[in-house]
Amino acid sequence: MANVGKLQELGKGTVLIVDDDKSFSWSLCEALKDAGYNALASSSSRECMSKISETPIDVVLLDLKLGAEDGVSVLKRIRKDFPEVAVIMITAYGDIPQAVECMRSGAFNFITKTAHRESQTFFATVGNAIESSLSRRRDRLHKQELRRFYDTEEIVGRSEGMLELMKKAQRVAESPSSTVLIMGETGVGKELLARFIHDKSPNSEGPFVALNCSALPENLLESELFGYEKGAFTDARMLKKGLFEVADRGTLFLDEIADMHLRLQAKLLRAIESKSFRRVGGTQDISVNTRIIAATNKRLRIEAQEGRFRLDLFYRLSVVPLEVPPLRERREDIGPLMDHFVAHFNKELGKSVRGCSPDAMQRLLTYDWPGNVRELRNVMERAMLLETDDLVLPHHLVLEPVRRGVRAQESEGEEGAQYASSQAPHEGTESEVCSLAEAERRYILKALKLSNNNKTKAAQLLGISRQTLRTKLKEYAKERSDSSEASDAGEAEP
Ligand SMILES: Nc1ncnc2c1ncn2[C@@H]1O[C@H](COP(=O)(O)OP(=O)(O)OP(=O)(O)O)[C@@H](O)[C@H]1O
Ligand SMILES: [Mg+2]
Repeated sequence: MANVGKLQELGKGTVLIVDDDKSFSWSLCEALKDAGYNALASSSSRECMSKISETPIDVVLLDLKLGAEDGVSVLKRIRKDFPEVAVIMITAYGDIPQAVECMRSGAFNFITKTAHRESQTFFATVGNAIESSLSRRRDRLHKQELRRFYDTEEIVGRSEGMLELMKKAQRVAESPSSTVLIMGETGVGKELLARFIHDKSPNSEGPFVALNCSALPENLLESELFGYEKGAFTDARMLKKGLFEVADRGTLFLDEIADMHLRLQAKLLRAIESKSFRRVGGTQDISVNTRIIAATNKRLRIEAQEGRFRLDLFYRLSVVPLEVPPLRERREDIGPLMDHFVAHFNKELGKSVRGCSPDAMQRLLTYDWPGNVRELRNVMERAMLLETDDLVLPHHLVLEPVRRGVRAQESEGEEGAQYASSQAPHEGTESEVCSLAEAERRYILKALKLSNNNKTKAAQLLGISRQTLRTKLKEYAKERSDSSEASDAGEAEP
């Protein structure tokens, strides 16, 4: 992170004294320099503003009565134009009430002119002001750093979980020989993260090659990975390089690694450990410098413990495990992601959608996102593609009505070594299915509950008119009274 260096350069603080009493400024400057600070002096507001824009000043010691000028207006200008600079007002003893007023206008503190300038209190005040200015600067650099991450890599995320993950990914990217295992539910952004690691690695100029291990039968996957020699089998009329070789000095991304056949897993492990392999039908070892990033939406440890995945390969891959959290566990990211996709699809579809209405946003924020970021992307694309409004409204959002699938965390140890949810929800059993009318009734009740019985809001959530909602509720009330009458009648029967 380049800016960390910049932060360190900020080093010991620089203080600017602004006072028209030059001998006073001079003696204060000397006292500060003796204490190890950089100190500068200026005698007018104009000089003060130009010094701040030329030199990185941390603290301004500003005279409240700057000759004919009013120190308070200078204070306000500094606060407005250079919000990271801390200002300490210098005041005569009798002006303390005015100095207190200055603190309301953003002064960090004040000192009196008569105070002993070499006293501990004086230096403590200056020291604290420098610390506060540095911390504001650090915050800004940190935010810039994050923006740099996200804006260039298009990985959007402000949540604690994503920030931690990105930091870890950045570190692992820097050592191009380490193997990385990325885990997480479907659609959380595993491939995006793999590309980020490649882009940040010293081998970013090299190729990034992705291979989905579940897409090919075993023998085809083997020749895809390792290539074959001419004549290795009947159809091998020419030598073919495998992706291991193609991705030399770059990254080979092995998606859905859990689906790789056990025999091939052994071959992969050998290739990773020895950094060499043989083509199918070959007799010579070929050395490569390919970084492997593997990804899976299964709980690989469980797969390994239950014998469906080689334990030794699991250990080899999980030297640096990265787990991308599901979207429902980082709801702070939904807003920024929504903005990102609105901007993206505005460009792609030539639209000028401004964003989501508050109610639509509420729907996005409360939904569980079984398909994670990919699902959010699809929902936004569909909403923007079909609608003509410049604001996305609740009824534009087509969300999966029933959350199916079992979270892996809840089902560990059972056959479900799969992470939560999936694009392909499990088939379910007949008993899980209810009639459409019943599903509709449940959803209406849920929407009412979510909106604290506010019918307008509930109707918006459901994407129906308030009138339709009222008609439905009347029907339910009628059904209820009919059925209670029927049961009352039933009880009356002998
Ligand atoms: N943090 C993010 N910021 C912006 N876009 C994202 C983010 N995470 C995911 N996406 C987008 O969501 C979609 C799915 O991401 P990706 O393919 O990386 O997920 P995945 O975890 O590999 O999914 P699968 O398990 O189904 O292969 C992509 O279009 C990707 O660009
Ligand atoms: Mg993927």
